[in-house]
Amino acid sequence: MPVSRRNFLRGVGVTGGAGAMYGAMGAIGLAPSAAATPTPAFTPPAPSDFSLTGRSTRSVLVLGAGIAGLTTAYELGKAGYRVTLLEGRDRPGGRNWTVRGGTTETDLNGETQRVRFAEGQYMNAGPARIPQHHVTLDYCRELGVAIEPFVNQNADALLYYTGDTAVSNVAVKHRTAKADTYGYVSELLAKATSTGALDGELTADDKEALLEFLRDFGELGNSTGDPAAENLYLGGSGRRGYTVEPGAGLEAGTVAPAPSLHDVIAGGLGREFSFEFGWDQAVMMFQPVGGMDRIAYALEKAVGPSKVRYGCTVTGVRTTAAGADVDYVDAAGRARTATADFVVNTLPPHIAARIPHNLGPAVTTALGAAVPSPTGKIGLEYSRRWWEDDLRIYGGITNTDLDLSHVWYPSSGFHSGRGVVVGYYNYGQDALDYAALPHAQRRRRAVQNGAEIHGAVYGDDIASSFSVSWSKTRFSEAGWVDWESQTGPEYTTLLAPQGNVYFAGDHLSHAIAWQHGAMTSARAAVTSLHERVMTA
Ligand code: PHE
Repeated sequence: MPVSRRNFLRGVGVTGGAGAMYGAMGAIGLAPSAAATPTPAFTPPAPSDFSLTGRSTRSVLVLGAGIAGLTTAYELGKAGYRVTLLEGRDRPGGRNWTVRGGTTETDLNGETQRVRFAEGQYMNAGPARIPQHHVTLDYCRELGVAIEPFVNQNADALLYYTGDTAVSNVAVKHRTAKADTYGYVSELLAKATSTGALDGELTADDKEALLEFLRDFGELGNSTGDPAAENLYLGGSGRRGYTVEPGAGLEAGTVAPAPSLHDVIAGGLGREFSFEFGWDQAVMMFQPVGGMDRIAYALEKAVGPSKVRYGCTVTGVRTTAAGADVDYVDAAGRARTATADFVVNTLPPHIAARIPHNLGPAVTTALGAAVPSPTGKIGLEYSRRWWEDDLRIYGGITNTDLDLSHVWYPSSGFHSGRGVVVGYYNYGQDALDYAALPHAQRRRRAVQNGAEIHGAVYGDDIASSFSVSWSKTRFSEAGWVDWESQTGPEYTTLLAPQGNVYFAGDHLSHAIAWQHGAMTSARAAVTSLHERVMTA
């Protein structure tokens, strides 16, 4: 499966070119205000909506007890809707899945992994980071799920890119790469400014202001005394990090000289710096204390666990004159049919597309238009936190063009005896390559590549491991989906109810691959359904 452009852009965290950037710059003047709160505003249905209007409550079948389904059930439940959830798995959360010791999973390759992480150790196999502006945090507050910082960026984490420059095939600290990239880019821009190349764009005052900015931003200077050698990146400051750290008394520290401009630019050290500019990826970010599934279980508890029927596989969906019917096979293998006034279908679209229904061919086409996007992770549990002890990396992410893509160091449990490192988190073809392997081979390959970046220590002290391929995970079959268009007829068809059947999920939002998308989509379905009931 080719990596779609959108998926690639999501992977590298770039959401637009220069045009998009200039467009966004128009918004720079926006002060933080009510305009920046999650949209659209949401008012949950209330019991009084029924009691004060003399209406009777309605019943709703929710397909899928992932974040969209649970949010739907939770918000409808606030008003007294009679809600039942049908869930294929034996747990709530869907892709919100925290893997701990005791977790057992059989993937679509037919391989069963039994997780042997020690008590308290876990990996968030699906969502693992939450930006400040996502409604996910509002639900954490409302449901009493404690949160802690997630380290999405660390100056002392590493970059490792292959190539044929002096900075290739070696681990470079994020801070060093930044100092050198900002330094040389600033030097080049200063040169262009000073030699008049930008005279058409800048007034004399602008030029002086820009040079002043660049001297600071890139740490430019002149070590020669020759006025012609102004505004050069000298590369000798502590921004790069030290080979001998500053210390007591006369120890001023030693900084290694910077590589050449060619090496830094051609080595592509800056290729992922824009990730942290992203609307959804900028610090601060958060995670629930103890695992992302705290959110799923808190929602399940608020909904009422008895409302969720686990182990139920949906086999048919029909809108009827009176409401809607859903065929399913229950946990005991019995074929059953459930009936309600409404259905909210939150199943992944590529899975829903295969389930017989009477909603018409446009719905089948729409569901089938979603392009499943692969992703995967491996959790390596170490009995020694060597990344802290030896490398002084406390949380954060290492980026690489090796097929691992990202290595995540744990954001909690600092200085404790052990920890789970995410040894790869990749997308596209890399994810498919790992998906095809049995776990032991995934692990071998991940450790081999990880050792290229971190050294032989990477292979030591591994107590246990677990890997997930979302394309090979039953009931998900993808990490998320991409759409060719989010204004076209396929997408918009699913935004409207089809008879008495509604659709919801992160795939029906502009926050695909985020719980926020699932939650806002669920709220939109709840609002639409409730308005209909209240005006009927
Ligand atoms: N939300 C997921 C993550 O943060 C997937 C994603 C990656 C979404 C990058 C947008 C950008 O890893």
